[in-house]
Amino acid sequence: MSTKRGNWNSKLGFILAASGSAIGLGNIVFFSSNAYQYGGGAFYLPYFIALFVLGLPIMMVEFGIGTLTGKSFPLALRELAGKRAEFVGWWSIGSAMFITAYYIAILGWAFGMMVGAFGSLFEPGISAPFTPFETPTDSPSAMVYFFNLLATWWPVLFIFVIWGLNLLILRKGASSIEKAVRIFVPLMWVFMIGLVIRGLTLDGGFDGVMYLFTPDFEGISDASVWRGAFSQMFFSLSLGLGTMTAYASYLPRDADQVNNSMLVSFLNCSFEFIAGIAIFSLLFVFTLNPAGSTLSLSFFVIPQGINELSTIPWITRLFGFLFFFLIVIAGITSSISLIEGPASAMMDKLKITRKKALTIVAIPCAIGSVLCTLPIIIDKGLAGNGTLGLSILDITDHWVFSYSLLIVGLVESLAIGWILGADKLRMALNQHSKWNLGKWFNTLIKFVIPIVLLTVILSSLWNERTGLYGANVDLGSFNWLPWFIPIFWLAVSLSFSFYLTNKPYKK
Ligand code: PFF
Repeated sequence: MSTKRGNWNSKLGFILAASGSAIGLGNIVFFSSNAYQYGGGAFYLPYFIALFVLGLPIMMVEFGIGTLTGKSFPLALRELAGKRAEFVGWWSIGSAMFITAYYIAILGWAFGMMVGAFGSLFEPGISAPFTPFETPTDSPSAMVYFFNLLATWWPVLFIFVIWGLNLLILRKGASSIEKAVRIFVPLMWVFMIGLVIRGLTLDGGFDGVMYLFTPDFEGISDASVWRGAFSQMFFSLSLGLGTMTAYASYLPRDADQVNNSMLVSFLNCSFEFIAGIAIFSLLFVFTLNPAGSTLSLSFFVIPQGINELSTIPWITRLFGFLFFFLIVIAGITSSISLIEGPASAMMDKLKITRKKALTIVAIPCAIGSVLCTLPIIIDKGLAGNGTLGLSILDITDHWVFSYSLLIVGLVESLAIGWILGADKLRMALNQHSKWNLGKWFNTLIKFVIPIVLLTVILSSLWNERTGLYGANVDLGSFNWLPWFIPIFWLAVSLSFSFYLTNKPYKK
């Protein structure tokens, strides 16, 4: 492995970084709202099937091709399955950049709520304006506070803070990432365990756990539950965007990737369940109803619960602060990997320095983050998203999140399964692994995964037929956004991949 690309100082460093990438907003914000939306107990059976049938094997593929080639996602695919596979690799990198843009915007809001915990977020006030040191008067409402925050320019400042932290952590590659994750990853486990203990020791907290874990076989027949579980699994394990391959490429070639995949998935899913327990116990204790968007649960329903945790103001503030601090650090250990994937791919292909690659990735993505935090109010009644930024974010998330990860998963399993040959990868993985993968691995990669993913993608597309996502909300003079955003994403990401795939490349 070329030393210029850098490598992990220890196996622990890699495990912390990869599990830090996996554990993020997906585990705290999206998992619980998905589990709630799909009916608690109806969600986790499809979820576990998604883990074993899809998540674990694809993680083995993504880790495997990274160590096997010592290259990031597009070039690893090129080396193993040809130029057409490389094209899909770049397309996934392009999509990762779209996701980075809005992922960091959400982190900017979480940062705003964290700052707000010191100010008026947990103080009574009808409109609790986002001026941290103003004294509000009536009952506290985190929801009003959140939308007030979105209607200011503060989040734009906060996203620059988050971008700054990301670039600082990424400046030296694996070695500086390792330093950060050694602090952040254990810290987020400690906070989450603290939160779960608090939730479970409250009267009624256990009912939430029962809701989450009591199987509901009726709900399982609903196709959307399966779609939800499969997309959630891909996003949560950081698959389909090139990040895991980039991280794995900094490992020595004899790394045991079967073991690593099991460990990282186990850590991720355990965290997800602990987060689910913590959040559902709060929901049930305070009989909160998380209707509305995906973000509502973490951004105003849970804070509402935290508000009632204690009558002593500083304790409420401390819990509120810790909750959003947890979201911010869990999010940063993921966003660095979202940026590292594209940056390492460009360094490999264009032979440019890390600094240059980070600049090329950061500039367009940061502009995207700013667009997602634009405080222009387009929907005063909050029938939709309120601000222009949130609408841009929501529509982008719908298209990129629902389709790109799964399409990449489909193509990479076909490319590895049929062009390289699943058996070749299986042999390579088995060479350094304590647990030998059986022939079932080939069947999964060649047949089961492509069929499952194709079904999920087609059924999602079929569901779109009733109308373009977001078009039913009145966005005023921005009513063109619901069709513009998917076209823009496809046009930009496809030309980006076309350009980079055809760029001459010397090994
Ligand atoms: N796995 C992260 C989360 O659960 O929040 C999100 C993510 C990071 C997805 C990196 C994909 C990725 F490449």
